[in-house]
Amino acid sequence: MLWDFATALTPVADADTPDAADFYAGLLAASAVEKFDVEGTPYTGIFAYDDVMSVAADTATFSNVRPDEGPRILPLESDPPQHSFFRGLISGGFASSRVAGIEAQVRPMAVEMVDAMVARGSAEFSQEFCYRYPTRVLCSFLGLPDEDWQFHHDWVAELERRTGHGLNAPTESLQEALAPIIPYMLQVVAERRTDLGEDVISDIIRNGSEAGLDDMAITFMGITIMMAGHVTTTSGLSNMVLRLAKDPQLQAFVREHPDRIPDFIEESLRLEAPQQNMPRWATVDTEVGGVPIAQGDNILVHFGSANVDPAHWPDADRFDIDRANKRHLAFGRGVHQCVGAPLARMEMRVALEELLARTSSITVAGDVQRITWPRMAVEEMPLALTAA
Ligand code: HEM
Repeated sequence: MLWDFATALTPVADADTPDAADFYAGLLAASAVEKFDVEGTPYTGIFAYDDVMSVAADTATFSNVRPDEGPRILPLESDPPQHSFFRGLISGGFASSRVAGIEAQVRPMAVEMVDAMVARGSAEFSQEFCYRYPTRVLCSFLGLPDEDWQFHHDWVAELERRTGHGLNAPTESLQEALAPIIPYMLQVVAERRTDLGEDVISDIIRNGSEAGLDDMAITFMGITIMMAGHVTTTSGLSNMVLRLAKDPQLQAFVREHPDRIPDFIEESLRLEAPQQNMPRWATVDTEVGGVPIAQGDNILVHFGSANVDPAHWPDADRFDIDRANKRHLAFGRGVHQCVGAPLARMEMRVALEELLARTSSITVAGDVQRITWPRMAVEEMPLALTAA
């Protein structure tokens, strides 16, 4: 079956949603490189594991720099050698000692939110928890007030809507979506300049001072972290909780063996990569898998498809918590491989630990709505929760 990309952009009822392995099976068996349009914009999709690995590694041919003049989301929208400078400004914030410090701050948040839902016995889990909790984690990480989470949730959601989950080129309407956050973040940067702390904005100011990084550049790096860390983790968590709610046996196993939560997380990320693909732009005429690509072409590298390529993964479509190979591509590959992965893994683990420990059963209690591409997520998920 060839994936109907246009339809996949529309929320679908869960029962109608093929899983990623079904979605990509036809493409992987046929050309594994496919040209298609999304709302008039042409793309070349790269789907096979080997092709995805080589495109992600070849930053000279496949650039992360958008060809337009819009503001840059850094370090994501940069290429080597500049990329390592921008990445180096933030990477220390994701060191294990720093992530452990954030864990101590966010575990009480997870407990408080889970307890409120369990006390009620039901929740619309996607909106109530999956959207809210990662935003609160990011507020902690960036050193922002916890009560500002709704503001951040709202501007990121608006940006997602206006960019078609990142697929549409930046336009004036994108600038409008960023209008509330730019002055907010500029103010935060100004305050941090006089009072540096143990947060990632302070890291950027410290590490970027010699290079003379100005306030707007620092502002955009803060914005990048909020954007890149929010909907991805939201989506991952929502996919994981839906899987548990639909599979009582798996749920009971993971509840009884909380030490296996990290394995559960990795296999979920493999089968249902929250960010199914990421864009690249061809810097020269080239080809992938025998399919010609012209200089300037828009490319979509499908990490979600590489993760279920039967040529690489035995029983690719099977959820296997014991799978030995955990080197999935949900966090990407190459120089842009997700810098936030340690934080994401920690916050998803903490959420699942608290959710499973505080319940004896989680079941689906109404209609579920999913989106599948370019993000795979559960948008609506009514759950019944029984206290432990
Ligand atoms: C489950 C959660 C997450 C997933 C699935 C995810 C996925 C990804 C992927 C696929 C890339 C590679 C992009 C590319 O190759 O073009 C990436 C990069 C990135 N991610 Fe994540 N991410 C997650 C969580 C986070 C978090 C929590 C943060 C920050 C707080 C974050 C910040 C970033 C940044 C800054 C980059 C750009 C890195 C670079 O260009 O060097 N991500 N992420």
